[in-house]
Amino acid sequence: MNRAIGWGAVLVFATAETSAVGVVERIAAHAHQGVASCASSVCHGAAESPGSSRVRQDEVAIWQDRDPHARAYRTLLSEASRRIAANLGLRAAHEAPECLVCHTDFVPPEKRGERFQISEGVGCEACHGGAERWLSSHAQAGVPHAENIALGMYPTSDPQARAALCLSCHMGTVDRPITHRIMGAGHPRLSFELDTFTWMYPHYDFDEDYRARKGEVNGLRDWAIGQGVAARVLLQRLADEQAGRDGLFPELALFDCHACHRSLKERRWQPRSGTGLPPGVVRLNDSHLVMFRHVLAIVAPERRARLLELTRELHAASQRDFASTRAVARRLSELITESLPRVASHPFGKDDAGRLLDSVLAEAERGEYADFAAAEQAAMAVSSLVAAFESLGLIDSSRVERARSRLDALYATLDDEDRYQPARLLAALRELRTEVR
Ligand code: HEC
Ligand code: HEC
Ligand code: HEC
Ligand code: HEC
Repeated sequence: MNRAIGWGAVLVFATAETSAVGVVERIAAHAHQGVASCASSVCHGAAESPGSSRVRQDEVAIWQDRDPHARAYRTLLSEASRRIAANLGLRAAHEAPECLVCHTDFVPPEKRGERFQISEGVGCEACHGGAERWLSSHAQAGVPHAENIALGMYPTSDPQARAALCLSCHMGTVDRPITHRIMGAGHPRLSFELDTFTWMYPHYDFDEDYRARKGEVNGLRDWAIGQGVAARVLLQRLADEQAGRDGLFPELALFDCHACHRSLKERRWQPRSGTGLPPGVVRLNDSHLVMFRHVLAIVAPERRARLLELTRELHAASQRDFASTRAVARRLSELITESLPRVASHPFGKDDAGRLLDSVLAEAERGEYADFAAAEQAAMAVSSLVAAFESLGLIDSSRVERARSRLDALYATLDDEDRYQPARLLAALRELRTEVR
């Protein structure tokens, strides 16, 4: 690690230019009171949801018992972490800002209230923001959600803000960097999809009352926005003079891992028109850009071709030099920023779900998921789509079970990233399609 990541650096990195919405700054704007401050039995510390309030009230129990965020700090004490830290020359993972930025609620010391404990890992306020000013107001009936947001509560219900928040840790950003050096030391590869990950360990119900307070919820829209924001996170790091490179090389964590890490015996290269690259070169991990093309095809078809053209330019520039790579990354980032409001206001109804599925499949037929990272995103997209087919009533209940087992079969083709075969993924996608279309 040659770049010290201290409190100062974390805040300096979080300029408007480099981070999507200044997530780190926003989360740390006010003092964090600690999970204990949320855990009274009449607040969020009930053993079971009494069902009588607007929220569940057993959020702390769910977080503690099931949610991996509650053990994120403990992970830093594990044998695996000890090894990673030793490989990097760090004294101890649980004391290293390089790890704490993502595995805890790592706000500066002056922003830690009396009951705050770093050992709580990714606690409530790591996502909901420092509660200093909203702790009392948010418990009062009649105080609108918007007022709590104005007092520093982070808008997790807004998919764009939520995506930026999750991705700050789940992809690594300029503010919370993860590098190929950390991965080389043994850290797992990161991958994320907003809709899928939102529903893995929920401590919230998007029920009628929720919709009345916070607006409509739509999993496909969340998927679509998540892809745009994730693509932008990649581009912002690529465009950053420091975070985008490592010595002679670009930052390898931004590239497709399997472009380098694979067996010399298996021949897997095939042309991909989405990159325009020849064999034998290192490719950027463009999986979110590939997915966002599907989104634009539905929401702003006139922009899809431009996105493809700029993505191919980005791949070409990545084989040339840093300056042109940064320039194209900025242009792509702008295109996405301009498009996101349209994505956010798009209804994502029945027609869209069918067209999206067709679009994701067509790209498989064209060989665009030859790279594992894109294949993984395609599978999560289809998973989001199957859920949407169910909730929109596009598939009758007798077929739901079969569709789900086709989905399991699809995921099974991704079980071992070192043995991934695009042809098996394609076959599984075709089978799933016959079930739901
Ligand atoms: C402060 C950093 C941070 C933020 C913000 C964050 N996460 Fe995490 N998340 C982690 C860490 C670290 C882990 C791994 C914990 C462990 O196992 O030690 C994790 C694990 C998870 C897992 C389990 C993944 C798996 O493969 O089982 C899910 C799901 C998840 N996060 C979803 C989300 C979502 C959704 C958001 C945004 C609402 C989010 N996270 C925001 C740091 C974060
Ligand atoms: C950019 C944010 C980020 C940084 C920096 C980071 N991690 Fe992680 N780490 C994660 C996330 C997110 C996961 C969960 C991945 C998943 O399952 O999807 C994770 C998972 C892990 C795991 C595997 C946990 C399990 O249960 O399988 C270990 C071990 C780990 N991290 C250790 C470290 C160490 C040690 C450092 C510092 C050298 C570090 N991490 C830095 C985000 C980060
Ligand atoms: C990894 C990020 C993350 C962490 C950690 C987290 N939350 Fe949440 N929380 C969310 C998301 C995402 C939502 C759903 C979107 C929304 O309504 O804001 C949510 C929603 C909520 C809601 C609102 C439900 C509703 O019906 O309006 C409450 C209450 C809540 N969380 C409490 C907690 C408490 C208490 C903790 C700590 C034990 C906690 N959260 C930890 C991300 C997180
Ligand atoms: C440009 C090629 C390239 C790309 C892209 C790349 N790596 Fe590497 N990786 C290397 C090289 C070179 C090494 C060092 C091998 C050595 O030390 O013998 C390495 C080492 C590693 C190691 C340690 C292996 C060991 O034997 O201990 C891991 C783990 C790793 N990389 C993971 C990843 C992940 C995850 C990604 C994608 C996010 C990735 N790499 C992307 C070239 C690459």
